Amino acid sequence: MKSSKRHQELISAERLKAAERLASEIAHELNTPLGGILMYSHLILDDMPEDDPCRENIVKINKLAHRCKIIVQGLLDFSKHESLQMGSVDVNRALRGVIGFMEDHVLFKGISIQTHLDPALPMVTANENKLEQLFINLILNAGESMEGDGTLALRTGFEPDANQVRIECSDTGNGIADEHKERIFEPFFTTKRRSKGTGLGLSISHGIVDLHGGTIAAESNGGQGSTFIIFLPVAEEGVD
Ligand SMILES: Nc1ncnc2c1ncn2[C@@H]1O[C@H](COP(=O)(O)OP(=O)(O)OP(=O)(O)O)[C@@H](O)[C@H]1O
Ligand SMILES: [Mg+2]
Repeated sequence: MKSSKRHQELISAERLKAAERLASEIAHELNTPLGGILMYSHLILDDMPEDDPCRENIVKINKLAHRCKIIVQGLLDFSKHESLQMGSVDVNRALRGVIGFMEDHVLFKGISIQTHLDPALPMVTANENKLEQLFINLILNAGESMEGDGTLALRTGFEPDANQVRIECSDTGNGIADEHKERIFEPFFTTKRRSKGTGLGLSISHGIVDLHGGTIAAESNGGQGSTFIIFLPVAEEGVD
């Protein structure tokens, strides 16, 4: 059977729509119990003496629930693009924010996190929550690929010729097999165990980059780790 390019595109669009629907349903289902976790952890903290040894754990629960809330919000945004608030975003600041709450994640216990952020980076026009969600997805994948040992490097830079901001997320993990390279951005494509991955992270990430008029690509050399490279257009002067 001859499978035309148009046919392939239609299948991809259908898959993306299904992913968006699923994302929306999951996000709506999670929103209420998450709100409960946030509220009850607050109430416990309010009643707890400052020197209680359990305090630290409750604070962690509260922080993690906050993170989940951001992800859930991102999923909701992903499934209804029109409600997106766009503005001038400092990519370095967004990256630092994400690193700040992810470095405590158990995945990064034995991992060195290096940043090489261009201090003269221009702003991009973006939805900051979405960019954060994109960075979280890439950083989580990097962490999962390294299995507790390695280096995560985050770089930003300006490409004057294309007038774009370049963002790189590199890891020293197990890399991407040649036969998987074509498929990693497909919704539901995963090489992880069912309980670990749904295969949505990169398709959501691709959707976010598309939404911002950018590109995303992956490079990997066998077992030498992987690098995800994103280009985003620089914000136009006077647009906010
Ligand atoms: N940094 C990486 N190193 C090696 N393989 C990767 C990396 N990032 C993604 N992959 C490959 O791409 C696949 C798809 O990634 P994606 O983030 O979409 O899904 P997932 O991580 O498997 O599940 P989910 O993100 O939904 O929890 C992964 O299962 C893995 O095989
Ligand atoms: Mg993932």
